[in-house]
Order: sequence, then structure tokens, then C-alpha cells
Amino acid sequence: MCFFFLLKMSLKLLAILCIAPLVCSQNYRLSGTVEPLSYIVHLSIPTGVFTGVDDTFTGETKINFRVTSTNISEIQLHHRVKNVTVELAVNDLTMIAFLEPTYNETTEIYTIPTATPLSVDTIYTLTFTYSNTFEAKNMEGFYSSKYKNENNETSYLVTTQFQPTHARHAFPCFDEPQYKATFAVSLTYPSGLLALSNSLEDNTTEPVDGYVTTHYKETTRMSTYLVAFIISEFTCSAQDTIDNNVLHRVCSRQEEAQDRTWAVEVGPPLIRSLESMFGIKYGSYMPKMDQIAIPDFSAGAMENWGLVTYRETGLLFSEEDTAITYKKNIALVIAHEFTHMWFGNLVTCKWWDYTFLNEGFARYYQYFAAALTKQLIDWELEKHFNVEQVQSALLADSSLNAHALTSKSETQREISDKFSTISYNKGASIYRMIETNIMGAGNFIYGIRDYLSNNTLQATVPADLWSKLAPHVPNTSLPQGIDLTTVLNNWVEHSGHPVVKVAKSGNDVVLSQERFLLSGNDTTEYYVPITYTLSSDVTKFSNTTVKTWLIPGQSLTLTGVLTDNNWIILNNRQSGFYRVDYDSTLWSAIKAQLHSNHLAIDVLNRAQIISDAYNFARAGRNDGYGSWTYAELMSVLSYLEYEVDYYPWYAAITGHNHLLQRIGYDSEEGQLFINWMLKLMQNVYKTVPFDVLDSSNQVYSMKQMLILNRACKYGEAECVSKSKELFAGYRDKGVKVPKNLRNLVYCTALRHSDNIATDFNFLWSKFGETKLMSEILTILSGLGCTNDTATLKWYLGQTLNETAGIRLQDFTSVWTYVFSSGKVGTNAALEFIAENYQTLNDAYSNCGSLISSAANYIYDEDQLVKVEALVNLTGILDTHKVTAEKALVSAKDIISWAKTLKEDIRQFLADDNNDNTDNSGAVIHTSSVLLISVFIIVANIVF
Ligand SMILES: *[C@@H]1O[C@H](CO)[C@@H](O)[C@H](O)[C@H]1NC(C)=O
Ligand SMILES: *[C@@H]1O[C@H](CO)[C@@H](O)[C@H](O)[C@H]1NC(C)=O
Ligand SMILES: *[C@@H]1O[C@H](CO)[C@@H](O)[C@H](O)[C@H]1NC(C)=O
Ligand SMILES: *[C@@H]1O[C@H](CO)[C@@H](O)[C@H](O)[C@H]1NC(C)=O
Ligand SMILES: *[C@@H]1O[C@H](CO)[C@@H](O)[C@H](O)[C@H]1NC(C)=O
Ligand SMILES: [Zn+2]
Repeated sequence: MCFFFLLKMSLKLLAILCIAPLVCSQNYRLSGTVEPLSYIVHLSIPTGVFTGVDDTFTGETKINFRVTSTNISEIQLHHRVKNVTVELAVNDLTMIAFLEPTYNETTEIYTIPTATPLSVDTIYTLTFTYSNTFEAKNMEGFYSSKYKNENNETSYLVTTQFQPTHARHAFPCFDEPQYKATFAVSLTYPSGLLALSNSLEDNTTEPVDGYVTTHYKETTRMSTYLVAFIISEFTCSAQDTIDNNVLHRVCSRQEEAQDRTWAVEVGPPLIRSLESMFGIKYGSYMPKMDQIAIPDFSAGAMENWGLVTYRETGLLFSEEDTAITYKKNIALVIAHEFTHMWFGNLVTCKWWDYTFLNEGFARYYQYFAAALTKQLIDWELEKHFNVEQVQSALLADSSLNAHALTSKSETQREISDKFSTISYNKGASIYRMIETNIMGAGNFIYGIRDYLSNNTLQATVPADLWSKLAPHVPNTSLPQGIDLTTVLNNWVEHSGHPVVKVAKSGNDVVLSQERFLLSGNDTTEYYVPITYTLSSDVTKFSNTTVKTWLIPGQSLTLTGVLTDNNWIILNNRQSGFYRVDYDSTLWSAIKAQLHSNHLAIDVLNRAQIISDAYNFARAGRNDGYGSWTYAELMSVLSYLEYEVDYYPWYAAITGHNHLLQRIGYDSEEGQLFINWMLKLMQNVYKTVPFDVLDSSNQVYSMKQMLILNRACKYGEAECVSKSKELFAGYRDKGVKVPKNLRNLVYCTALRHSDNIATDFNFLWSKFGETKLMSEILTILSGLGCTNDTATLKWYLGQTLNETAGIRLQDFTSVWTYVFSSGKVGTNAALEFIAENYQTLNDAYSNCGSLISSAANYIYDEDQLVKVEALVNLTGILDTHKVTAEKALVSAKDIISWAKTLKEDIRQFLADDNNDNTDNSGAVIHTSSVLLISVFIIVANIVF
């Protein structure tokens, strides 16, 4: 029980106080009074592990520690190992007595009561011996993995994934991020293998009985979750170093050696971009950087200090066979992990409540530091950030159960849940808002440097960041009388974000706010930095410095702004984390502008308008001065006819995907919508023809993949016939499909196949032959597009067939390809679950998520029986039965919701076709010709 609770302090304050040592003892947290200083970890891995006959390792770990207050007579730490023995000594010399330790299997906390209180002036040593089995299924902790090598033999490797709570699976430790200590690791393993850990090798013994022992140099002070070791048959490539004597290497299975080139090339310049930004050299704290591709890996990548691990698709790039989207993704993932070397590794969030202090920055600089790197300089990464991060963050943040950036987590499950779209995407978006709206790039980086240098090798809470940013905030940038901490805590401690409502009142506009939610209500209000652009001055879009603030509990009048202006658009370049809704007069003016000359509105604001409109329609927003229906949305979208830019289309297609998932691609209304959209896509389609491929142009190629992919999915005739042609060329003559088109060609050819058995078997045989992970995923995704239930069920069956070669890490991808590909796929997945429930449940621990994810693609009444079958399935686990029941209710809700949606679409398209003059979309069409000439002038000024 917590002492302060008796004083009736508010719960929130209590939560803050509990961070301080000694104040409270929380069941899932260590006491805070025992502080590890250094670890010596020695692990032995027997030969049998590398031939598949053994699955255990043994360990010996010494921990030097001290206590930080008097009267401490128990030591608590984590472990998840077996057969533990423990000794306690003063300075690793004089043994001292302790009572019988206890172990809690839920919290994984091991408690060692001492006979007498420990002295604050003494350094103590705990020595553990233990053994453990490698994890084989979960890809966490210390785990083993296998793959087929270049000689078609099975090779084994052992590797680690410790974040957030798995270091304790390899050695007993204080497994919380705030406990930093040095680590001296040594490994005993069969000679001839490559063994890597965080720091450089110190020495390796001569082989004895086939075993060698490698000692690594002691690391700098770091958190347990960043420790790593990997033993494999891998090889490495190196070229440029990061700095004098700071080695950069890229490692993988030997067969992939030629595909490391991109990572080898881009790694050092990326890390140097970060060094010059942060003003701290990477090499000051870790003497080398190895990046390594692991065949079976659960996360995308992991920032172990000096030994970063990746999925193969996150690191390896074949110039000949890997699509250009992977190239961008690899650069961004590397930049993300490298950012962690500062945000996360050097300065660490004190506890997972503040995961966004690590992940938000990594997500942020993966774009904005990468954008400064020579190789990526014209990739427009700062624009990609908006559609990929800000818009997805807004969506994730639009439900009542979205967590706040700072939110409590204790159990392992709660901690995992903190690695969410909110912590990453919203965290990054809030940093973007601070930088662009409040501080400006120069001031922001000064604040960031102070934060990093002030907290080097320490752990932090958000207040530590605010206090270092605050001195650099220009006086004019905050609301009157309000400090930075108040503004930022408002965003960080509350979930959600506002929709700013803009109403015309004569020549004034009046701004007010409410929390934006797809459904439900909440009264939270925010400090909203307002920026805006008026129709007479479209150069203002580029100015993202806050102009005025909308304050909780108040409205705001912008006096006279509409004198000589017919529209106003808020949130320049969508730099602030909020949506904007206008009254119907203002919306009409914006729509008219989009139709007459959309180029007068900044491309990122066009993307914003589309994303906002889609979400308003989805929420059915109706706040008195405008009511959002899908017909209303479509009147906004109709301008897309003129749009040939990537970002607005990205936002539009994100919206279409949701819409079509709800009404079905093959429903009557789905077809109406698709035909309408194909008409609107004609111009953009012409800018990225099938036969103009240009992989040296990243932005062009991204747009080409995006647009052609959708055109094919919508069944556009030329797209389909060209895809089938290219596929036939591959199948019959062995002519490879151009790498950037493969994804859509495989999928389209399978979806529209004239001979499913032949085409499916052909592609499946290619799966068996290829070893390149990006190509494997492209093939697996193409196979999922097959339009035949029996074939798809056979395909799903292969995820359970150990000899088929589908990797554990790709299990859920294959399922997702199938159930998201269309009605046939959704039905096949649900039927497969019912028919093979026992086998599936034995093989896969998360059947429930398969049920709810697949059922989320139901849009038609005749599909409900598939879920009912699961509800009534004999032998189904209670938890899965409950999941199926919930899925059924939710599917029924969606179907009835989609009815209105379908009505809207019919109505809009009927009006559109009749060229009916009383409705938004059509009116604008006819008047647009007149307006174009006027706005051409404006366009010339802007661009
Ligand atoms: C282990 O810890 C959990 C969480 O504090 C607690 O609910 C449970 O009773 C503990 N188990 C034992 C055996 O003490
Ligand atoms: C723990 O010790 C027991 C008895 O010696 C042994 O049977 C068991 O395999 C050991 N467990 C591990 C994981 O090594
Ligand atoms: C690899 O070995 C498996 C059996 O382990 C065999 O079925 C397959 O045909 C072999 N592949 C190649 C390319 O040799
Ligand atoms: C190898 O390195 C370890 C520490 O990293 C050291 O204790 C040991 O003495 C070294 N052994 C030799 C033979 O140099
Ligand atoms: C960090 O900042 C605090 C307060 O501004 C100051 O007292 C402290 O000395 C600084 N520490 C370092 C290591 O710079
Ligand atoms: Zn990360």
C-alpha cells in the first residue's frame, strides 16, 4: 500500500510519485532501491543446438550492485531461467547469508531476502548459475532459428530479441529500462561460427574440444533490453567506416551477400546525418555498428546498441529483383534504428509509460534526418511523413480507447501494447508540431541537443524534455501566459486530438474545437496552434509558424480575414496535429477552388482535405452547420479528376480502401464507386504508364506502384490485360516481370486467371525456388489474390505444413493476404478456421486474432453464416467463442451501417450522371471552366 494514498492525493499525482524510489511498492515493478552497476554474463551454447538435436544453453551471470537507502533487506530482480543457483557476496569476495528466495511466475520477479540490512557503502555481488531452453516459437528472448543455406542444407542460428521484457530469459537482471549498467559478455560456442555482441571482440580462445570462447569488451552503461548476441554461419560486408576506427558492417546469410550493397552504402551517411544533427558522435559510446538480417524475426528491426537486428526485407535489397518501395523502407528502417542510438540507447525512457520518448523520436528522425542524407535527398521524405505518419496517427487516435502518449503500463501485456501507432506515429507527429508550429527547426535542434547532452546515459520522463526545449521557445510562440509544459502536457497526458471548426460570420471566421472521434463523445480540449492561408495569399501555405492559439474552453475569432478572401484553409501543410472542418459556405469555396485550380492549394493541404473529409464522412459528423455523408465526401473527391500528385492520391486511396472494405468491391455500389473512381484516375494514370519504368526516380516509381496497383485492383481493362501478358511471359518464356510491377502483376494475373491451377502452381513453384525475402513476400501476396476457395484453403493449409517453407514470421502475412483479398478470400479463411480449428489452434497461439481480423472484412449478409459456424463450433475454446460472437455482432453492425453508405453512393452518382444542377459535385463541374483562367495566374506565382 502506498503511503501517499492515505493523504488522499489524486490518483494522477500518486502515479507520478510512484516513480520515485521508496514511495510505493508496485507488484510488477522492482523496488527502486537496488541499483545494478555492472554485469558479467557468460553463456555456453552446445554444438547440438546448431545441428537441431539440443535446445538448451547454460549461463553464469555476476551482477555488482549497491543499495540506495538504508534498511534494505531484500533484493528483487527479474529472471525467466531454469535451475538457478545464487550466491551473495561483498565485492565478489566474502559470502554473506540470505534467506530462501521466492519467485513469482507472473511478474517474473525473484526476491532474495537478506539476513541483515544491506549497507549503502558497499558493493555487493550476486552470482547466478542456471540453464534454459531456447525459445523456438516466439522469436523473443534468446531464441533459435533455422533456414536453408546455399547448399540446400538446414543451418541453425541463435539470436536475441530482448525488448521490452525478455533479457531475463537469457540472464537474471534488473529488466527495466531505467537500470543502466555495463555489460561484459562472453560466449562459448562451436568454433568456426560467427559470434557477435554489442561491443567489439576482446579476445577469442583457441579451440578446446571444438569450442571457443569469445570475450567482448565491456560496454558503456546501458539498459538490459539493448543487450544482444548472435551466433551463426553468417558473413559480413563492410566498406565505408562511420568515423576513424568506428566500423560499419552489414551481415546476413552468405547467399544474400550481394544484396547488402544498399545498406552498406547508406548506413554510414545516415549515421553521420544524425551525428551532425545531435552534435554527439556515435563512436563516443560504442566502438562499432553491425547491422544483421535475421531470417525469422518478430519485430521489424531492433536497435540493440552496436548490433542492430532486422528482418531480411528491412536490410537486404536486390537491385535486380526488389521493388523500389523496399529501398525506401530499408533506408527509413535503418534511420529509425540509428536514431535510437541516441533516443533510446544513450537517453532512455525511464519506464514504458513514456515509450514515445524513444519511439516517437525514432519515427520522426527516420524521415527528417534521412531527408538530409545525400542518397535520399530528392525522395520527398518530409512529405511522405504526412500521409504515412500524421494521417495514420490521427486515425488511430480517433477512438475512445486510444491510449494517451503517457499512459500507465505494468504487466508485460500492457507494456507490449505501448509499442503502438500512438507511441510511434502520434509521438512523431507531436514532435513535428512542436518543431514546425512552436519552435522552428533551428531552435528545436538546440533544445534536442541540450536534452541529449544533459541526459546522456540517464533515463528520462517527458518533463526532462520539456525543460530542455523551453529555453529555446520564441516568446511569441506560446499562448499568452501559458508555458510550454502546460501546452505539451495537454497533448501528451490526454488521448485524442481536436477537430477545429471554422464558421464564417460576415468577414470574420470563428474557430471552436471538440475532440474528433469516429464514434462516441469526450470533452477533452487542446491547446491548438493555428496557422492558416487565405485565398488571396497562397504563398502562406509554406509558413507553419503558429499565428494564434485556440485555447481549451474558448472560441477564437479571426477578425476580418474574409475581407477580399473567399476561402480560408487552416493548418498549413498539416503541420499541427488536428483536423479542420468548415461550415458549408466555406467548404463550397474550398471545393470550388479545388475544381478551378487545385494547384492554388498546397499539395499537403490537398492531402489533408481528403483525409479529413474521409474521416468526417466515416464519423457521420453532423455539428449543425454541415452534415457529412459519403455523398458530401464524394463531392470533395470529384476534384481528383485533375489531381496527378502522389500525396492526395495516397490519402484518397487510403480512404477508398476502407470504404471498399465496407461495401465490397463486387457489390453493385462497389462497382459504381470503382467505375467512378477509374474515370477520376484517368489523368493520374496517364502520368505513370506501364512501360515507362524509372527506378532511379524514387518519387515517380512510388506513384507508379500506387496508382497502377489500384487501377488493376479496380479491374481497369488495360491494367489487367498488361498484367496478364507480363505474367504469361514469365510463366511461358521465363521473362522476369519488372521488379516494381511484380506485386501488382502477380496479384492481378492470379485474380483474373483463366487457368487457376496452372497459374497458381507456377507461382507456388517459384516460391519454392526463391530465397530472396522481398520476392518471397511478393509471391505470397500474389498467391493470396487467387479467386478460388479450394485453392486458397490449400494455400492456408501450407502455413501449417512445416515442410512447405512458409516462415513463422510470415504466417500472419499469408493469412492477411488471403482474407483481405476479397469476398472469396475472407470466406476461405473463415471456413478454413472452422474446418481445421484444432490443428490451427495447436500450431498457432493467436487464433482469436485471426478470427476477428478475417471477420472484419465481411461486408455481405451471406457471409455471416461463416462466423456463426465458428460460434457454434464444437470444441472451440471459450475465449475464441467470445471473439467470434463479438465479431458477429460487429459484422452485423457494419453491414447495417454500410447500407446508408451505399445509399449515399447511389444518390451521388445518380446526381452526377444526370448533371443535376442542384447538387454540389455537379455544379462545380460546370462552373470550373470559367474559374480556371482566373487561377492560372495564381498558380504561376506559387510554383
Ligand atoms: C505474483 O504477483 C501477482 C501480481 O502482483 C499477484 O497477483 C500474485 O498473487 C503473485 N503470486 C504469488 C504466488 O505471490
Ligand atoms: C534443470 O535440471 C534438471 C535436473 O538436472 C534437468 O532435468 C533439466 O533438463 C534442467 N533444465 C534445463 C532447462 O536445463
Ligand atoms: C532441397 O532439399 C529438399 C529436401 O530437403 C528437396 O525437396 C528440394 O528439392 C531441394 N531443393 C533444391 C533446389 O535442391
Ligand atoms: C580476454 O578478455 C577478457 C576480458 O574481456 C580478459 O578478462 C581476459 O584476461 C582476456 N584473455 C586473454 C587471454 O587475453
Ligand atoms: C542538466 O540540467 C540540470 C538543470 O538544468 C543541471 O542542473 C545539470 O547540471 C545538467 N546536467 C548535465 C550533465 O549537464
Ligand atoms: Zn523503434
